[in-house]
Amino acid sequence: MSEQDISKTPSVLSEEPGILVIGLGLIGGSLLAALRDAGYAGRCFGVDLNPNEVSLGQRMGLIDDGGPDLAAFLPYVSLIVLAVPVMAIAPVMAQLSQLRRHGQVVTDVGSTKSAIRDQIRSALGRVPNWLVLGHPIAGAEKSGVEAANPTLYQHHRVIVTPEVDTDPEALRRIESLWRTCGAHIERLTVERHDEVLARTSHLPHLLAFSLVNTLARQDDRLDIFRYAAGGFRDFTRIAGSDPVMWRDIYLANREAVLEALAEFEAGVSELRTAVAGGDSDAMLGIFSRASHARHYFDRLLSQKSYQVMETRNVMYRASAGGQVRGNIRVPGDKSMSHRSIMLGALAEGVTTVEGFLEGEDSLATLQAFREMGVAIEGPQAGRVVIHGVGLHGLKQPKGALYLGNSGTSMRLFAGLMAGQSFDVTLTGDDSLNRRPMGRVADPLRLMGAVIDTGEGGRPPLTIRGGQRLAGIDYDLPMASAQVKSCLLLAGMYATGATSVREPAPTRDHTERMLTAFGYPVTRHEDVAHIEGGGSLTGGFIDVPADISSAAFFLVAASITPGADLTLEHVGINPTRIGVINILREMGASIELLNERKVSGEPVADLRVRHAELHGIDIPADQVPLAIDEFPVLFIAAANARGTTRLRDALELRVKESDRIKAMADGLEVLGVVNTVVEDGIDIVGGRYQGGEVESLGDHRIAMAFAVAALRAEGDITIRDCANVATSFPNFPALAGDVGMQVEVVSEGA
Ligand code: S3P
Repeated sequence: MSEQDISKTPSVLSEEPGILVIGLGLIGGSLLAALRDAGYAGRCFGVDLNPNEVSLGQRMGLIDDGGPDLAAFLPYVSLIVLAVPVMAIAPVMAQLSQLRRHGQVVTDVGSTKSAIRDQIRSALGRVPNWLVLGHPIAGAEKSGVEAANPTLYQHHRVIVTPEVDTDPEALRRIESLWRTCGAHIERLTVERHDEVLARTSHLPHLLAFSLVNTLARQDDRLDIFRYAAGGFRDFTRIAGSDPVMWRDIYLANREAVLEALAEFEAGVSELRTAVAGGDSDAMLGIFSRASHARHYFDRLLSQKSYQVMETRNVMYRASAGGQVRGNIRVPGDKSMSHRSIMLGALAEGVTTVEGFLEGEDSLATLQAFREMGVAIEGPQAGRVVIHGVGLHGLKQPKGALYLGNSGTSMRLFAGLMAGQSFDVTLTGDDSLNRRPMGRVADPLRLMGAVIDTGEGGRPPLTIRGGQRLAGIDYDLPMASAQVKSCLLLAGMYATGATSVREPAPTRDHTERMLTAFGYPVTRHEDVAHIEGGGSLTGGFIDVPADISSAAFFLVAASITPGADLTLEHVGINPTRIGVINILREMGASIELLNERKVSGEPVADLRVRHAELHGIDIPADQVPLAIDEFPVLFIAAANARGTTRLRDALELRVKESDRIKAMADGLEVLGVVNTVVEDGIDIVGGRYQGGEVESLGDHRIAMAFAVAALRAEGDITIRDCANVATSFPNFPALAGDVGMQVEVVSEGA
């Protein structure tokens, strides 16, 4: 259910006449405080064996009445929350199942779920369908109703673990309760909940208790605590938590904790071996993988731990008007950044990369290689140092490789992984998991690879190791650099030659970079050709600025009167400059200054000034050369005199979103006249208004509409923009530097 649907459903505030909390402590008290703050006017009751908690709850205005006996209050409530210790839930449930009235729903807040479910099953013979087990992931070091905090659940997760036969109406009411307190709901199975919590909460607490306990015993000898600040204090903060509660948690979640502990012990033993043997590469590998994972997840989780992670949804508010002036350098090329890590990891020796794109997609690629045992330093201000392991030196990762939003990563990885000795599973975010992978799985199977795909040829991909690959001659059914690259990379592991014919030229970074690493790729007309069995040699790669990111500013400057902007050090590989060719044909003023070559790729500074644009029929041969730039080219078309026509662009329908539809819908909102056809669109230029558009989580759609605001008659609000960080993490700031105004706001703010 989306947030909008939810807002239409009845709220706890109006539909629940009374609420009973059994166990008035921090958790139950905070729930009542949050409800009161949200305007809940129904009756609230508290049951607690401790009369002081009850009278305090009353004095604080959290409950109307309370006492030790739940039977006294049941007739007045519709919703019951069990906030008693895990081990006390079964007897309370037994009582409740006898006294419960029709329509009453019950939830709990316990932090382990299997044990609670088992207790309830053995007490009642089943889990009643009016009980919805749940767990708010929030807490504080203080306890008791005195510490009740109305904001405790705001922007926190509440995990609910419904059973297959849980009454959907009961589930809806419990989710609505937590949403009213400002929480985000997540549904997990009981087993998954316990596994996740064992790793993210129970294991770290166990380690903290153990470390402090061990050091405390040694303290007489070593006087450790006098010197223990920083690291020790941070690491062990949670050892100050309630011992009884934690004892109960380990009794209740024993199996999952033991499993997590076994994994941890294996990790410590690996590290012990590395330290004992003075194995510097192994240590660097482990530490950099961990350090990077910490930063990466921090970023993904909006700088917050799992416990307080916010929704990632951000919105842009792009103000109407603005200027486009100055000198900027946009981030590094995404295609080359991915490839530099892949080839660097598989090379012999060390590779240094400068200008690496620190966007989420290329960071996911980097992390994936760390998980396969490659030591990688950085990124630090665009610099990455990769300690290559050779073509056959990767190790099997412990779990599936998560490739974020990136189709490029998944398709290129598919080729590389097909040649490994181990099995591996590739997965990604929702958008990536909807994209077609048959286009790589089919030809790889022809080479001898064994690949399982998800439904309809979509991710996840599981690639079986230890297969013998043989080279093929393959005619690409579509112009795709990703498929071509996938097969060339697999070709390194195949016996004989692999030849790939493309129906139209596509970006050739793989061919150029392989050659730069000393692995020859030859080209005869429309066929790229590689022989198996070679090797890669590490070296230096300078990644130029991404022309696909520069494109937003090429259009921004072209449509804005008075604009004069220079984009520095942009890659102008002939297979990528469709956007320059198309804009020039529309009348744009773009000069290439200071042309040079770095790491086998042509680079220039691009000076772009305002010009009157006119509509054109986009030449079909330019489509693959500008394949990622169409969202913003559509904005150029909306600002051009006359009609711009695009055809032969079916591939746009299977990018991070269906880009023809996503753009047409947004243009419609702004009042830009357009006609959609299956493989393209006609756009009539003219004046347009502001409005609210959806990016559908597609980075390039989001940035394109931000550019549109420069000439809109009102502000443009763009929803779902978090994924801009996949390719252009500093876009709003850089846009601000040139005189645009793109404000980032949390969705819902
Ligand atoms: C890319 C190839 C293109 C492009 C993508 C990056 C690459 O995809 O859209 O952003 O790095 O090889 P297709 O090969 O699917 O056209």
